[in-house]
Amino acid sequence: MIILGIETSCDETALCLLETRDKDGVFECRILGNIVNSQIDLHKEYGGVFPALAKREHIRNLPILFGQIKKDSGITEDKIEAVAVTHGPGLEPALWTGVDFARELSRKLSIPLIPVNHMEGHIVSTLITSSVPHDDFRALQPTAFPAIAVLISGGHTEIVKIEKLGSYSILGRTKDDAIGEAFDKVARMLGLPYPGGPMISKLAERARAKNIPQTITLPRPMIHSKDLNMSFSGLKTSVLYLLKEKGEPNEIFKMEIAREFEDSVTEVLVTKVRRALEENECSSLLVGGGVIANAHIRVAFEQLAGEYDIPLYLPARGLTGDNAVMIALAGALDAKKNFPSISAQGNLSLETRF
Ligand code: KG4
Ligand code: ZN
Repeated sequence: MIILGIETSCDETALCLLETRDKDGVFECRILGNIVNSQIDLHKEYGGVFPALAKREHIRNLPILFGQIKKDSGITEDKIEAVAVTHGPGLEPALWTGVDFARELSRKLSIPLIPVNHMEGHIVSTLITSSVPHDDFRALQPTAFPAIAVLISGGHTEIVKIEKLGSYSILGRTKDDAIGEAFDKVARMLGLPYPGGPMISKLAERARAKNIPQTITLPRPMIHSKDLNMSFSGLKTSVLYLLKEKGEPNEIFKMEIAREFEDSVTEVLVTKVRRALEENECSSLLVGGGVIANAHIRVAFEQLAGEYDIPLYLPARGLTGDNAVMIALAGALDAKKNFPSISAQGNLSLETRF
């Protein structure tokens, strides 16, 4: 089956054409086309994503990118057999643009329309080994269930128990800011442009490489609480107080804050996931979402998985942030159902099933 994936939940307009097949009972797929059009430069001046602008750009981009992906892949419309689209969670005005486009296409081509939960997309993004088009069909990573997924993005921070693909229960989540959001807010306090995660990460790496002495300590919020919930808003406030107390930070101080912030977030996250592994049967660990591009956090999860001797699956380069490969894949895994009427749901939970 050839399936078109569409992602417009935030500030990326993304499309993917994925071909899937069943080879002796094993699901295999190959990427025929993958386009991610980022609006980051447009949103930079607002210091974050501006929903009305995101909506306008998605509406403008979708037909252009659809034309481009057909041309690049050589796949004509009559070959597309299903369309999968993110319908939540995310920015509702942005989500609607993708949903409307997908619904129109499904009507025009008389093909099934499959709604995909963006967070399920981030889960399955860990199972595919490439983000670039390839000729050969490939099996997914050999995940054993039950598994634990850790989702760390700009809008979410969740620890999820997966009995099997499609069956999720949330074991813990942030009570306030998502990890990516905290990275972005701290970056803004340090005068760094949006999105700040990669900038903080670079500064922290430099602080470690230069062995800059540690003169500050930030809290590790909720690290000792017995549950699996987290909180990052107080950590951000601690950085704010520190900056108020010490005045305009120089480069060295910025590096120090970045390292200590990254250490704090990593320690809290890994402590909570360790607790989840202690309390639950778990045969594999999956970590998805934009923040897993962070090298320090990747290494921490590699160590943790090594400690528990379980396989760790992380997204391939190009699949950590928002993309449509993960949406097409999640849709293909769900393709037996057809959903003629779907709506955008900004607060859609992973636990909601149809
Ligand atoms: O999954 P994603 O692309 O979008 C959402 O669904 O939210 O995640 C975006 C988030 C942003 O907050 C961004 O700052 C963060 O991922 N991020 C990083 C890094 N690269 C992206 N955070 C820390 N370190 C990074 N290297
Ligand atoms: Zn995302």
